[in-house]
Amino acid sequence: MSSSLPPISDVTPLLDEAETWSIDQLREHQLQLLRQTLHRVYEHVPHYTAAFDAAGFHPNDLHELADLRHAPLTAKAELRDNYPFGLLAVPREDVVRVHASSGTTGRPTVVGYTKEDIATWAGLVARSLRSAGVRPGDVVHVAYGYGLFTGGLGAHYGAEALGCTVVPMSGGQSARQVQLIHDFGARVIMVTPSYFLSLLDEMDRQGLDPRESPLEIGVFGAEPWTPAMRTEIEERAGMHAVDLYGLSEVMGPGVAQEAVETKDGLTIWEDHFYPEIIDPITEQPVAEGEVGELVFTSLSKQAMPVIRYRTRDLTRLLPGTARPAMRRMEKITGRSDDLMIVRGVNVFPTQIEELVLQLPGLTPYFQCVLTRPDRLDELTVRVEADPNTSEDTRMRLAAELSGRIKERIGASAAVEIVDPDGIERSVGKARRILDQR
Ligand code: DLL
Repeated sequence: MSSSLPPISDVTPLLDEAETWSIDQLREHQLQLLRQTLHRVYEHVPHYTAAFDAAGFHPNDLHELADLRHAPLTAKAELRDNYPFGLLAVPREDVVRVHASSGTTGRPTVVGYTKEDIATWAGLVARSLRSAGVRPGDVVHVAYGYGLFTGGLGAHYGAEALGCTVVPMSGGQSARQVQLIHDFGARVIMVTPSYFLSLLDEMDRQGLDPRESPLEIGVFGAEPWTPAMRTEIEERAGMHAVDLYGLSEVMGPGVAQEAVETKDGLTIWEDHFYPEIIDPITEQPVAEGEVGELVFTSLSKQAMPVIRYRTRDLTRLLPGTARPAMRRMEKITGRSDDLMIVRGVNVFPTQIEELVLQLPGLTPYFQCVLTRPDRLDELTVRVEADPNTSEDTRMRLAAELSGRIKERIGASAAVEIVDPDGIERSVGKARRILDQR
């Protein structure tokens, strides 16, 4: 962590009651809400009635939280099969908002919210922001996309609920973003880490020193990013960089948040979401503290609760720190569908990111290109060089990065150093993998 970061005032007087509960209080609350949710979906959502029956599970079988492991898992495919409104547990008329995630193929996944769900969501994003160091009265610049994506509106309602002055900028128009951040004196920005890098470059282009900008806190999420990226951003911009996690199927942003004072993983708001980690292959819970796929069950969602939803995100659960009763999830290493298996070696884009950021002369803009020229998979890492990097240095950097990938990850990768602006910029989630096989 950099030493000269802005001070943050104590959050203790602002905590929600649930954030101060003991583990026993939390578990009791979870058990009660879990029972209600299981009964509700079993009675009102035909998909769950059928899935529970097929698994030989009845809501009355839940005697303790651990019994949840006998309930069937839910995958994204089930959301698609019930497109658009098949999984609602309330009449469609009670849904005041829908969001949808585009997905890479086929039908989008649609989610719905009652008025109460929207209020709960805003409250949890407000709680997340407080934990990130944001305070009532701050100017919050929202550069997550507005629309069907949950990022923009989720962040927006939460920041408003906290009592902030919200700038609903959405993604794109980088020059304008930078101008408004300065003109309005934004203390906080909510944006994907990859797009924030573009905004830092835009500040450079405008001759503005990011360290002189009014920004003190970045609440970054919607895509995986590494501790190395945190260091890069904190040093370059002199601001705190904290992690915000969520997914539309479970709610949107605000499922878990990293506390600014600890920066040691994300506290899961366990009074609303019950987490489990399973082995993605055997689908059985892993031993405590082991890495696996994160699974969530809604505890309070009214319109569209999900039961044991498979996120595809890989992480592990750790005991609480900043909020002692609530468990943390470690920063996400990747998604199981981001996993590149290169001649038998598992590689995640986050591992590449970490190595790229270690080499001065390279920028954090990179892409992993997968090809299969000769029946064997090949990985090419394309990275942008810094504008001041000479041709000779580029060659050396390419060899160095390739060597480090082999040494640290065990995979053979060709490295191609491209010119500045040679890697596509996204205004939202970065596309790290280009699969050309
Ligand atoms: O990305 C919600 C969100 C918006 C979270 C803004 C944070 C900030 P989806 O589009 O449904 O929802 O995508 C969810 O994005 O399963 C993860 O794979 C990834 N993801 C989200 N936050 C993080 C994070 C939003 N902090 C999917 N770190 C999730 C790593 C993240 N991956």
